[in-house]
Parts: sequence; C-alpha cells; structure tokens
Amino acid sequence: MHLTMDALSRAECYKLLAGTVVPRPIAWISTRSAAGVGNVAPYSFFNMISAAPPLVVLGAMRSASGGLKDTATNILETREFVVNLVSEPMLEAMNLTCIDAPPEVDEATLAGLAMLPSELVTPPRIAGSPVSLECRLYQAIDAPPGSTIILGEVVAMTIDDRFVDAATLRPDPIAMQLMGRVHGVGGYTRIQTDRTLQRPVY
Ligand SMILES: Cc1cc2nc3c(=O)[nH]c(=O)nc-3n(C[C@H](O)[C@H](O)[C@H](O)COP(=O)(O)O)c2cc1C
Repeated sequence: MHLTMDALSRAECYKLLAGTVVPRPIAWISTRSAAGVGNVAPYSFFNMISAAPPLVVLGAMRSASGGLKDTATNILETREFVVNLVSEPMLEAMNLTCIDAPPEVDEATLAGLAMLPSELVTPPRIAGSPVSLECRLYQAIDAPPGSTIILGEVVAMTIDDRFVDAATLRPDPIAMQLMGRVHGVGGYTRIQTDRTLQRPVY
C-alpha cells in the first residue's frame, strides 16, 4: 500500500503515523496558567532532540473545539513546563489526566496526584515520577491547521536516586519501569533491553 498524505483525512494521518512511529515516550506535562491554575496532561508527541542545548519537543494538537489545549496555552503564556516521565505504577493515574477537563480544573487534583515544588520553574513536578525535566520555552512553531510544536530547553532535572548511578550519572530507565505508547487507542508497552550492539568505527 502506498499512501499520499494529501489524500487522507486528519484522522487517517493520525492513525497511520501514531500506529507506526512507535514506541513513543510519554511526557506527563505539568504547567500553570498565567492565573496560577495547575494543569497536568500526557503528550506522546514527545522526544529529546538535542543535548547542547538540551532540548525536548512536544506536539500539541488542537482541542475538539479547534482551540489550543490547556497545556499549550499555559506554555505559551508562562514559557515554563515540567515533563514528568511515566512509570508503569503511574499509568492509570496518567490516563485519568488526559480527561478533557476545562481550564479551571487541575487534573492533578482529579487524579489524586501529589505535587512537589520545582527548583527553577514555577510549575510543580509530579511526586513519584522517576524523572522530571524542568523546561523553559525555547521556541513555539504554529503548524496550521491542527498543531502547535513546542521546543523546550531542559534547565534542570530530578531523577529518583534509586535509578541513577551517582558516580557515572548513568540512569537505568528499565528499573524505572518507564512506559511507551504504541498506538492511538490506549496501547502501551514496557521498555526492556533485548539487544546490545557496539557502534562500528570506520
Ligand atoms: C498517552 C497519551 C498521549 C497523548 N499524547 C498527545 C499528544 O502528543 N498531543 C496531543 O495533542 N494530545 C495528546 N493526548 C491527548 C491529551 O492528553 C488530551 O487531549 C488532554 O485532554 C489535553 O489536556 P490539556 O488540555 O490539559 O493540555 C494524549 C493522551 C494520552 C492518554
């Protein structure tokens, strides 16, 4: 099958890409509105894209009403967010926070999440998340008709001491039980090391 994206609907493009570009890490993003209301939501259009500067990327689609989702609104207004990574024990709580709650509702309260203060940014981090990345907006790219792409600079990170070697700074993402998203209808996968390869030298 060969498909030309121009000939497909938005939903078909989503289905095909979200079901093939897998597994995707999940950014469980905490933000604050300009008025100070907290917000938590998961985003799997997410990855690291640079180490110097340390950058992550997020893709926020428009909400059903066609407007910006609360996470995107808050990041554009305050220029700050925290990416919390999702471990298997937190998967159900993460799923609760994707609810389409109005801006005045903090999904952290709905999901019974404990929050802890961040060091360098105003939005708090999620207690129990093995890794939290404190980010400042680096650049936002409007991608009409349906998306806002957000580049964030990671200015600080917190890793649970159990999952990082203090001497080498090597993290253990498998011990963290981090989860990945595998398709758009509620599928998730565990990560594990199946193969280890040495890089070739020419
Ligand atoms: C695992 C998971 C990943 C998601 N990834 C995205 C994403 O990358 N982009 C997006 O726009 N919505 C994504 N969603 C849907 C949002 O979480 C959902 O629309 C949420 O209500 C947005 O909340 P907000 O308005 O508070 O930002 C995802 C949902 C789940 C459960």
